Amino acid sequence: MPETKLFAPLELRGVTMRNRVAVSPMQVYMADRNGIANDWHLQHLGKFAAGGAGLVFTEGLIVDPIGRSSYSDCGLWSDTQIAPLRRITDFIRSQGALAGAQLHHAGPKAARRRAWDGFAALDDDDAAKGEPPWQPVGVSEARTLDKYHAPRALSDAEVGAIPEMFAQAARRADAADFDVVEVHAAHGYLIHSFLSPVSNTRSGPYGGSPKGRMRLALEVAEAIRGTWPDRKPLFFRLSCVDGVEAGWTIEDSVVLARDLRQRGVDVIDCSSGGIRSATSTASAGYPAPGFQVPFAAQIRRDAGIVTMAVGLITGARQAEDILQQGDADIVAIGRSALEDPNWALRAAHVLGADADRSIWPAPYAWGVRALDAARDAWE
Ligand SMILES: Cc1cc2nc3c(=O)[nH]c(=O)nc-3n(C[C@H](O)[C@H](O)[C@H](O)COP(=O)(O)O)c2cc1C
Repeated sequence: MPETKLFAPLELRGVTMRNRVAVSPMQVYMADRNGIANDWHLQHLGKFAAGGAGLVFTEGLIVDPIGRSSYSDCGLWSDTQIAPLRRITDFIRSQGALAGAQLHHAGPKAARRRAWDGFAALDDDDAAKGEPPWQPVGVSEARTLDKYHAPRALSDAEVGAIPEMFAQAARRADAADFDVVEVHAAHGYLIHSFLSPVSNTRSGPYGGSPKGRMRLALEVAEAIRGTWPDRKPLFFRLSCVDGVEAGWTIEDSVVLARDLRQRGVDVIDCSSGGIRSATSTASAGYPAPGFQVPFAAQIRRDAGIVTMAVGLITGARQAEDILQQGDADIVAIGRSALEDPNWALRAAHVLGADADRSIWPAPYAWGVRALDAARDAWE
């Protein structure tokens, strides 16, 4: 049986991923109005765990209702949201995967319609259907896109209270028995909008210099580490580059990654874009396969921190090569997991790490093995 890197376990603090495949956070807009998870989320996340992934992330769980991207976001702003998530983490772990909670505040991109309704700002039509718009909050009063609501600029005191919201959400994530927490600091949402010189035009403690722009991200990491158990890893998702003129650069990301590492962050999840677009670069267009991998490689090398590569990583051999070349330590898949929830199981077979389907869940393994035998007989 060939040794693969993709199916080698990875120890992070006190937990072990059974392999290096993570399912990337993906919002499904299926929660009820109170941000409570339900059976949809259980089957959505559960099938990735049964499908062999090492780590399964929830969608961005909202830390403050004003930072909801839509009325259907899942939340962790209230203790009432813990128990239904606990049911999901129990199932994920029963299938041998780790459960990851992404913590999220949409900031200036809040109060939008669901993805399949085009991410448009909520308006009077939505109000008539019981979903009135609200005014988002942001780093400044500038809109991300002309079609969005103009946010209200947060005062310095309000910004100073945000890390504690993330810390409280992390406390709830621990109560829901998540193994991993990730901070969503990418894609033009609240924390990213403080990092980027494109959007952060503030003066005062949370603006101006790069140090000021990075302050909120670093305070969030510190606050979470104050409540999130030492034995559990903390991930940070960055838009490693803005991809627009005079924007945040990969060099900025390296500096931030070093500072985050010193504050107890274990893994940088390397995404990009979103500061002046509805979604990340990967979701917005048709970039080349693995186009964000160089960001993971540079941050891994220059900041000396574990990285997760994401974005148009679709094939087993492509994923294996990324790890073999030392470009990243973990590979995250998003849309490929939607297309094939058994992506990890299939990848193990393709790479020869599971020739006899022994890592498949027992109810499926014997059937798939019989299918292999039938295929062999045809050939
Ligand atoms: C349906 C959908 C929902 C997403 N929701 C989130 C989210 O909640 N948080 C996040 O950080 N990224 C989100 N993303 C971005 C993905 O996590 C991932 O970075 C992106 O899809 C690129 O990876 P892929 O090419 O493997 O799909 C979402 C993407 C999709 C397709």
